[in-house]
Amino acid sequence: MKIIEDIREMRRYAKEARAKGAAVALVPTMGYLHAGHAELLRVARESADLVVLSIFVNPMQFGPKEDYQTYPRDINGDMKLAAQTGVDAVFVPYAADMYHHGFQTFVNVEELTKVLCGEVRPGHFRGVTTVVLKLFNIVGPAKAVFGKKDYQQYLVVRRMVEDLNLDVEIIGVETMREPDGLAMSSRNSYLDPAERLAARCIPRAMDEVNAAFFDGTRASASLIDIVKKIIENEPLAVVEYISVCDTETLADLEYVEDSARLLLAVKVGKARLIDNCLLEKKGWSASLDSL
Ligand code: PAF
Repeated sequence: MKIIEDIREMRRYAKEARAKGAAVALVPTMGYLHAGHAELLRVARESADLVVLSIFVNPMQFGPKEDYQTYPRDINGDMKLAAQTGVDAVFVPYAADMYHHGFQTFVNVEELTKVLCGEVRPGHFRGVTTVVLKLFNIVGPAKAVFGKKDYQQYLVVRRMVEDLNLDVEIIGVETMREPDGLAMSSRNSYLDPAERLAARCIPRAMDEVNAAFFDGTRASASLIDIVKKIIENEPLAVVEYISVCDTETLADLEYVEDSARLLLAVKVGKARLIDNCLLEKKGWSASLDSL
């Protein structure tokens, strides 16, 4: 497994692989890898000849009061997991190289980023799309793999690719869950044991709302109310947003006809946890999703 820190070297390495006819898949991450990332890497491995994993805690996507400095990092553990999943190259650029002195060019997806996480974290998605486009330009992947736990991010990246005619296929991978249904996330490491237990209210609320949907509840206000009550019943959890919205535009729905996406952000201790699921007629459950 090759470890590359230098941008020009990364570009050269990927270019040589492409020249030999290899299809390159990129899995962009901020490190502190877990089984969810392993799944992204597995999908990448299946769908391309050469797998590049990027690890870069991107300062541009953190607000001034957010956790950039304390974001969990474990480069040795990451390298071990990368090697186990058959990654060909790990790209670990330096922030000073990615954002050299005088940097002032950004990419912004306008509408999709105005709601949900975009509303609560101004500038976040601008930082994400900018770094993702930079990584695409450096690596030149045919495919890039993103987790659907960050569902809004997945849609935003897809929109950017479509709008800017980028020649990259975006592959979305279903959320990996702990046995009790909690979505895997690097930020779960912020939870102490009591908070970890409290965080179970998120998949529990998602299960309840799916059961209600399956039983015929279609008014978004009623669906949101179910989630809200379960989470508000947990003293360590604070709701940031709950939305029942269109699966593509993320526009709020008053009433769900066939399907919708439920997205939520909840603070448990200092961890800000996000999760989402599809509401559809055939039913869904966080515990089944984790199998
Ligand atoms: O999902 C993440 O880890 C990050 O937002 C990404 C896509 C690697 C961009 O920094």
